[in-house]
Amino acid sequence: MKRVGILLSGRGSNFEAIAQRIDEGKLDAEIAVVVSNIETAPGLRRARERGLDVAFVSSKGLAREAFDQQVVDILHKRRVDLVCLAGFMRLLSPSFIRAFPNRILNIHPSLLPAFPGLQAQRQALEYGVKVSGCTVHFVDEGLDSGPIISQAVVPVLDGDTEESLSARILEQEHQIYSKAIQIVLNGQIRIEGRRAVPIS
Ligand code: GRF
Repeated sequence: MKRVGILLSGRGSNFEAIAQRIDEGKLDAEIAVVVSNIETAPGLRRARERGLDVAFVSSKGLAREAFDQQVVDILHKRRVDLVCLAGFMRLLSPSFIRAFPNRILNIHPSLLPAFPGLQAQRQALEYGVKVSGCTVHFVDEGLDSGPIISQAVVPVLDGDTEESLSARILEQEHQIYSKAIQIVLNGQIRIEGRRAVPIS
């Protein structure tokens, strides 16, 4: 059974969607550990309630490298095959990324490369795009910039607020993240330059 490590900083709805897919037998994996940099993150509490192995790593007074090394050590100790960022509000250092080559995924609430960074849904509304969505991608050293595994398109409606658009995108996030995780765990794609290509 492939072992997934989840990193989160907040609500944790993507983590919960992944955990639920696993419980339903729709995602063939196990969650080896849930790590957070925020002690009070609701996602961390929910992970604990599910009886999962959890770890809080404080970043207080730590250089990025030192914090990241602690997280990498936790993930290595739990023999994690794949690292899934699920609302983890920190950039990973190059040494973290090198520790898990092509083994770190992220979900982002826009159709990348549009609107990377924070408040992607608000950026989309303010720009006036008519469709937005979400993207699962491999994590590289840039901001929301690695090869794309899957995307879902969500219409932007005339009356949308940041909240209503975010909620509609979130539903799709919960769908596509688990599917992308399964594809990667199955070894069904390879990376060619910027492209993640299905292996037939
Ligand atoms: C999601 O919108 C995700 O795309 C972004 O952060 C948010 C996390 O939400 N990376 P949740 O904590 O999974 O509910």
